[in-house]
Amino acid sequence: MSRLKNKVAVITGGNSGIGFGIAQELKNDGAKGVIVGRNQETLDSSVALLGDNFIAINADVTNLDDLQKVFKETSEKFGKIDILVANAGAGTTGTVADVSEADYDKTMDLNLKSVYFTVQKSLPFMNDGASVILIGSNAAHRAYPSFGLYGAAKAAVIFLAKSFSNDLLERKIRVNVITPGTTDTPAFDKFVPEEHIEAVKTQFAGLMPIGRIGQPSDIGKVAVFLASEDSSFLLGSEILVDGGMTYLSK
Ligand SMILES: NC(=O)c1ccc[n+]([C@@H]2O[C@H](COP(=O)([O-])OP(=O)(O)OC[C@H]3O[C@@H](n4cnc5c(N)ncnc54)[C@H](OP(=O)(O)O)[C@@H]3O)[C@@H](O)[C@H]2O)c1
Repeated sequence: MSRLKNKVAVITGGNSGIGFGIAQELKNDGAKGVIVGRNQETLDSSVALLGDNFIAINADVTNLDDLQKVFKETSEKFGKIDILVANAGAGTTGTVADVSEADYDKTMDLNLKSVYFTVQKSLPFMNDGASVILIGSNAAHRAYPSFGLYGAAKAAVIFLAKSFSNDLLERKIRVNVITPGTTDTPAFDKFVPEEHIEAVKTQFAGLMPIGRIGQPSDIGKVAVFLASEDSSFLLGSEILVDGGMTYLSK
């Protein structure tokens, strides 16, 4: 398929998990562009898999100067941006009884502030009619123990798809959000000791109405839809890609 032929994409966090899955699916549909992250090793290995039409830029999405650099370099190399995926983010844990001010700021800086400014800093380098895809989380809809602050940040991201779309109406830039459920990515490594990872994934699969956890390609295929003209009537929408885990009771 080549619905995205010659379209220029930027995917933050495109060197791991869901972001890499999105980059692969966009590439499979003809897009070219940039993946962004901080880990040079995974940036190099990911871009090698994506092939010649992709480059990697090492940047921290919580740093506004870095964001400026990403979009300037992208447009110098490829021209103006058609598809922006603000995916970089990470779950954090803690309850209202114990989250410190520093932890609060870190969670919000990465999961909310970075999304706001990723979109803002991209705008001068973006084509009118572009598609912006934000990444939410099912934790924005259900209060999972210890994921409250992360869920609140993601709930705000889901709202931003609407307000950004409103702000950008004149430029016909559509902003929509994909909300993944539990997805098989290296993020598991941060919460679960290595020897328990497979058991925990199996346990999660048993809890999912659909009977398995998500794969990054499940999210990537929906990103292709949102990036393409097939979704031209979607504006400020949220698509749950969660195997039913958010709203179905098993
Ligand atoms: N996996 C799930 O079950 C799940 C469910 C719902 C929502 N999500 C959301 O999906 C998105 C991707 O998560 P994932 O599971 O794919 O996690 P992952 O495999 O850990 O990937 C996270 C990505 O974000 C990048 N990143 C993190 N902090 C960054 C920073 N300050 N600057 C630049 N890049 C940064 C990482 O790159 P570097 O390490 O190189 O910086 C990495 O590429 C996140 O927004 C997450 O909240 C995940």
